[in-house]
Amino acid sequence: MKPSDKYFEEALKLIPWGTQTNAKRPFPQFDETMPKFIVRGKGCRIWDMEGKEYIDYRLALGPVTLGYCYEEVDQAVREQMKNGVLFSMASPIELELARLLHETVPNADMIRFMKTGEDANLSNIRIARAYTKREMILMSGYHGYPDWFATEDSPNNGVPEFMKDYVKVIPWGNLEEAERLIRLYHERLACVISIPYDMGEDIHGTFIKHLRTLTKEYGILLVIDEVWTGFRLALGGAQELFGVDADLASYAKAMANGYPISTYLGKREYMQSLDHFKMTTTYAGETLSIAAAIATLKIMKREKVHDHINAMGRRLMAGFNTIAKELGVEGYAAGLPPSAYLKFSTPDAAYNARMEYLWFRELFREGVFVMLRWFISYSHTEKDIDESIEKAKRALRRALDAEPGERNTVKPFYW
Ligand SMILES: Cc1ncc(COP(=O)(O)O)c(C=O)c1O
Repeated sequence: MKPSDKYFEEALKLIPWGTQTNAKRPFPQFDETMPKFIVRGKGCRIWDMEGKEYIDYRLALGPVTLGYCYEEVDQAVREQMKNGVLFSMASPIELELARLLHETVPNADMIRFMKTGEDANLSNIRIARAYTKREMILMSGYHGYPDWFATEDSPNNGVPEFMKDYVKVIPWGNLEEAERLIRLYHERLACVISIPYDMGEDIHGTFIKHLRTLTKEYGILLVIDEVWTGFRLALGGAQELFGVDADLASYAKAMANGYPISTYLGKREYMQSLDHFKMTTTYAGETLSIAAAIATLKIMKREKVHDHINAMGRRLMAGFNTIAKELGVEGYAAGLPPSAYLKFSTPDAAYNARMEYLWFRELFREGVFVMLRWFISYSHTEKDIDESIEKAKRALRRALDAEPGERNTVKPFYW
């Protein structure tokens, strides 16, 4: 038995699913190849409990934009640690980070910090409700685990039924349904909250721009959930890339290279609602993450990090197209360069899903860690990308060579 199997067995007895978030559990279908624990990371590489090295394209579910153990960020944290982690009054560095965000993120007239993506989203919804004095919201995309966002998640998930009267879900990208729900409920709606991009093929922001037009027409606030897209697609996120304009927006994952911080920000008129109600949480001004965010944003600006991420993403996409062609695979590179993917495109959806599964299984074996989208960090070099493509080609060949029986029985793996 491998050490990680033993640990996992014991972890399952003490920790539900053996992990803190479902997304980080080892998917049972990958049992033999997916690492169960990550011990260490440096640059764009990670190591599992057995010491196996992987080129990482998952980046801690998105946040590690610069690279693991990025010295300048970690040094800023160590310096701040000498002064203290948390105080009972504001720390002056909060203003420094607010200034940076004001300069880099569109519509950031006023800014506050939180710890996670979902609490930034919840804060924005609270503001929208307080401002409009309406209670209902429409949501589109994943916004976090809290009750408000999980009304349609799964049965018996502990979310009260009554919430369904206050939250309606627009399937992401469905313009007709968005229009129907907005027209039907507009008098009760405080806001529409939506992700601007689902990491798929709407690479010009058509859906989010349409939501912007509709919400303006009906006097409803638009909250853009930039938790994935902020500081990843561009410094100012999808607002900058697509030129779409949020009333309020939430940013989190990529802003501090993995340190836990998020921000909710937006137009002054709406943010000023916060003057009139209580919004208080102990760890929101925790200084280590603020120091990390300041360092991360300064590096991103100074070194044009997103130019590099885009260039490496384009190189990866070219590689996907080349190996698909060489191996005669019906598929192509899709998405935007910072989070691209190889889309298997035969007319048989079940076959495509199984091929994707087999490919990922073999990628783990090769030492490439990825799930669905390939996130690029500033630490990925041309050499890393080329090595990954070589490995991806070997993995794809093995996926194609899988026993037909195996190909037909494997289930798609997502949840
Ligand atoms: C778009 C989006 N919003 C919100 C969240 C929730 O963020 P967190 O897990 O930091 O609460 C996520 C997490 O994956 C996300 O992708």
